[in-house]
Amino acid sequence: MLRTEDLWVSVGDRQVLKGVNFSMKYGEINVLFGPNGAGKTSFMMTLMGFPRYRVEQGKIFYKGEDITAYDIYERARLGLGVSFQRPPTVKGVTLKKMIEIINTNGADSAGVDAKIEKLNLGGHLERGLNDGFSGGEMKRSELLQLMIQRPDLVLIDEPESGVDIENIALVGEAINTLLGKDKVKDQTRGALIITHTGYILDFVNADKGYIVFDGNLLCRGNPRDILSEIKKHGYRRCAECR
Ligand SMILES: Nc1ncnc2c1ncn2[C@@H]1O[C@H](COP(=O)(O)OP(=O)(O)OP(=O)(O)O)[C@@H](O)[C@H]1O
Ligand SMILES: [Mg+2]
Repeated sequence: MLRTEDLWVSVGDRQVLKGVNFSMKYGEINVLFGPNGAGKTSFMMTLMGFPRYRVEQGKIFYKGEDITAYDIYERARLGLGVSFQRPPTVKGVTLKKMIEIINTNGADSAGVDAKIEKLNLGGHLERGLNDGFSGGEMKRSELLQLMIQRPDLVLIDEPESGVDIENIALVGEAINTLLGKDKVKDQTRGALIITHTGYILDFVNADKGYIVFDGNLLCRGNPRDILSEIKKHGYRRCAECR
């Protein structure tokens, strides 16, 4: 579903990715751990095509197609979607308007209303996008937009950060719905999820985990095993591993 080959990326004056080789199959959920500043968000933003992240070397393939030079909107049309770690505030565009913009395939309004209700966002529709939203409201608003966009591959940056314990279950369910993991027939949607706490692993059935460390991927394995190693040892030993 997704593959990167020797991906070198810089942002500003910093080399953020240093030869990342990554691949995931259709329908997989992959999880990225790693210390602050390791390059996790940079990896996602590069996959989505944000121009600040300059690809200096290497390639990105999505469903077999080389998308390295594609613009964000082209990647979105091919089925890539992102939920930001820190979503931008867009004053003057209400959440309601944003939903209308995203709903290009014209899903029935009852379906959209059900999603709004499920994510508990009914009271925020008339507000500017993320304008003064609390941390948890922003994360839920991001997921709502993705649920309407219905991308085949979602990149989700720290879905549980700032979300209270009760709403984490809601976020987990929303991700499963988004990925069609609640339906036997729809198992081709994939996700790449960044998490520090791993809370989200209680709700989504992740296939593989990685540690991002100093611009590269280390330690492919069972995400729960990786998380328990991190809890025991921190990231100290990653430098030796590399
Ligand atoms: N415009 C920029 N100029 C210089 N350095 C930058 C710029 N943008 C990001 N960086 C740096 O790139 C590094 C990687 O950042 P990135 O956001 O990918 O980290 P991360 O792994 O997502 O960390 P966190 O867990 O804190 O979210 C950081 O040290 C960050 O400060
Ligand atoms: Mg980050």
